[in-house]
Amino acid sequence: NWTTTNVVEEQIAAIREQVGDKRAICGLSGGVDSAVAAALVQKAIGSQLTCVYVDHGLMRKGETEQVEKDFVAATGAKLKVVDAEKRFLDALAGVSDPEQKRKIIGREFIRVFEQAQLEILQEDGPEVAFLVQGTLYPDVVESGGGTGTANIKSHHNVGGLPDDIEFQLVEPLRQLFKDEVRMVGQELGLPEEIVQRQPFPGPGLGIRIVGEVTKDRLDLLREADAIAREELTAAGLDRDIWQCPVVLLADVRSVGVQGDGRTYGHPIVLRPVSSEDAMTADWSRLPYETLAKISTRITNEVADVNRVVLDVTSKPPGTIEWE
Ligand code: XMP
Repeated sequence: NWTTTNVVEEQIAAIREQVGDKRAICGLSGGVDSAVAAALVQKAIGSQLTCVYVDHGLMRKGETEQVEKDFVAATGAKLKVVDAEKRFLDALAGVSDPEQKRKIIGREFIRVFEQAQLEILQEDGPEVAFLVQGTLYPDVVESGGGTGTANIKSHHNVGGLPDDIEFQLVEPLRQLFKDEVRMVGQELGLPEEIVQRQPFPGPGLGIRIVGEVTKDRLDLLREADAIAREELTAAGLDRDIWQCPVVLLADVRSVGVQGDGRTYGHPIVLRPVSSEDAMTADWSRLPYETLAKISTRITNEVADVNRVVLDVTSKPPGTIEWE
C-alpha cells in the first residue's frame, strides 16, 4: 500500500543497492524535484553525495540562501555552490530577444555545471559514477520511458580526465507525481518553502525582464517580486494560484507623479494565474485589497517603478510567462 514512509524506505534501499560504495552528484535548481531527489539520495548514501548549485544571479530574493542554508541545514548534504552571476550577466549583455536569452542561459548553465562536475571528479576520482535527477513520472511517460546515462565531455581544458565521462542516472522520483513528491519532501523534513514552491522557470528572472537583463534591473525586479510574494502569502492565496510571474517592462516608461514632481518610470506587470498543468491557464481573480496592497507597496518601495498593471489574459492566447 502507498504511504510516503514506504516510498522513502523502498527508494533508500534501491539507491543503496544501485550506488553501492561509489559517489554521486546532484544538481540543485532551487525547485522541488531536485531538492527532494537530493534529500532522498542523501538519506541513502550520506556523504557519498555531492550537490551542486549554480548561482546564475537570476533567482528571486532569498532563493539562493534557501538552498545554501535551509536545504543544507535540513539534509546535511555536502553542497558546492558555483557563483556564476558575472559570467551569466556578461553573456546576456546587450541581448533582448527572448529565445536568444533562453539559449544563452541554457548554454552557460550546462558549461558551468559540467565544469563543476569535472572539478568534483578531479577531487574524488573515478569513484564518482552517478548523477541524480529529479525526473517525475509524467516526464518518464512523455519521453517514452527509457532510463539511462548522461555524458559530459571534457572540452573544458581540465587535464587528466578521459575524453568522455559517462554517469549512470539515479532517478528516485520516477514513479511519483508532483503532489507525491511534495509529500515525500515533507516526510524528509525539507522546509515548507521548498516543498510547496510554485513553478519557476529555469531561466529565472532573465525571462521576466522585457528588454536587456542587467544587474540593476534584476535587483529592482527582485524587490518587486518579493513584495508580491509576501502579500500573496500574507493573504493566504498561495494554494489558490498556480504561480504569479512578476514582470519588469524595462524598455517601457510612463509618466507618473510622486512626491514633489513628475516621474518617468517603469511598469511592473502582475501575472497571477490558476492552472492544472500550465498547458492552459486562466488569470486569477485576486481580491482587490490584495492587489491594492501589492501596488501601493511596489510603487512606494521600489525606486524607478511608478505603475503596477494586472495581466487579465488567459492561456491561450497569452502564455504564462511574458517571454
Ligand atoms: P508558458 O509561459 O509557456 O509557461 O505558458 C508554462 C510553464 O512553464 C514555465 N516555463 C519554463 N520552465 N524553463 C522552465 O523550466 C523555461 O524556459 C520555461 N519557460 C516557461 C512557466 O513558468 C510555466 O509554469
